[in-house]
Amino acid sequence: MNELQEKENDKPPGSAPVPLRKWRVAVIANIKERGKPLPPDVPPDAGADFDYIETVDAIRAAIETDGHETVFLPGDATLPYRLKEVQPDICFNIAEGLGGDAREAQVPALLELLKIPYTGSRVLTNAISLDKTLTKRIWRDRRLPVAPFQEFVFGDEPLRPELHFPLFVKPAREGTGMGVDAKAIVNNEAELRERVEYVIRMYHQPALVEVFLPGREFTVGVLGRHDSCLYSRHPEWYDKDGFLRLPVLELDSSRSVTPGIYGIEAKAQSIGSEGAPDYLCPAPIDPELTKKLQHLAYRAHVLLGALDVSRTDIRLDAEGNPRLLEINTLPGLSPGYSDLCIQANAHGISYEDLILEILYLGASRWGLVPPRQISPPSIRRKTGPLPAKST
Ligand SMILES: Nc1ncnc2c1ncn2[C@@H]1O[C@H](COP(=O)(O)OP(=O)(O)OP(=O)(O)O)[C@@H](O)[C@H]1O
Ligand SMILES: [Mg+2]
Repeated sequence: MNELQEKENDKPPGSAPVPLRKWRVAVIANIKERGKPLPPDVPPDAGADFDYIETVDAIRAAIETDGHETVFLPGDATLPYRLKEVQPDICFNIAEGLGGDAREAQVPALLELLKIPYTGSRVLTNAISLDKTLTKRIWRDRRLPVAPFQEFVFGDEPLRPELHFPLFVKPAREGTGMGVDAKAIVNNEAELRERVEYVIRMYHQPALVEVFLPGREFTVGVLGRHDSCLYSRHPEWYDKDGFLRLPVLELDSSRSVTPGIYGIEAKAQSIGSEGAPDYLCPAPIDPELTKKLQHLAYRAHVLLGALDVSRTDIRLDAEGNPRLLEINTLPGLSPGYSDLCIQANAHGISYEDLILEILYLGASRWGLVPPRQISPPSIRRKTGPLPAKST
């Protein structure tokens, strides 16, 4: 028996779990409108991490392929009223949130208050993962490799001696490369102070200063959780521990508009166009590094308590050692464009299957999907005959 057959035989038999009935699914997102002028008091890239309505439409279409009804709800102050009106069975959450120090947790918090099922990570994880400093403190505490860093809340804090130039400055709580351009790399004290002051003033939040990582850049998606096989439509995707580590995607920004930095401008370029980074998936790296990066992404996911889906960004330092940058617990889901969709596609997972998997894994946590009747092998093994009790 070859390795693949062995792996297949290891999977639980039985047909895919079927929901007890068709659902009304509300897709919740914050939408960006092309060409809409920004208010005067916000950073030039405000709202860059919001989604285009086409992404919401693609998610809805994917969910509808399985017979469910869908509706779009904006993730703003109208949401409590709209939820009452629509009465969804479950929400597919991709909302980035509006303002405050934990905006990506706003919609999950509201849904928990109203006891409405939703997909993906819960409130605490979405709040912490938005904050790159807090995230790195948790990872560092568990010995995951991160670049040396310091958070600047006021801007005039003395620089710690272990932070040697060049350094990298970014807003502590943004995404999609917001606040990240060529000036994020600072080479001396004067440049550092100028950039830190800019980030604090413009983005109304602390500046995170890290040692500049000059090496290659990767991102790794993770799907699933320990009991995925009980609820997944595709138990064959998962390793024995219930997780799928997607193929590593390398972002080669050497020929992009912002060479070496996968920031806001580089992310906005259409794939394949001049000035866009090269997206290499699976990354052309040796199997050992692939395994290492996938393991780090898995550990990063588990340590933050992420659920069902995440994407972790990693860069190599000057010695070629991987360093975790951040985790995205609400990774972009634009078909054919977002990093996670590129990785899923490279693994032979269609967009529809990716979206339905996130939906069904989420739904199963709220009792909307009955488990398979057959336990997966890892659980079967643990429930063998009980040892004789010693008195
Ligand atoms: N310490 C660093 N050294 C070198 N480059 C860095 C460093 N930190 C960030 N970068 C560059 O800036 C980009 C954006 O940083 P990061 O991934 O932390 O933020 P983000 O805006 O939240 O990303 P995302 O779009 O994935 O949400 C990275 O992809 C990388 O190219
Ligand atoms: Mg990132």
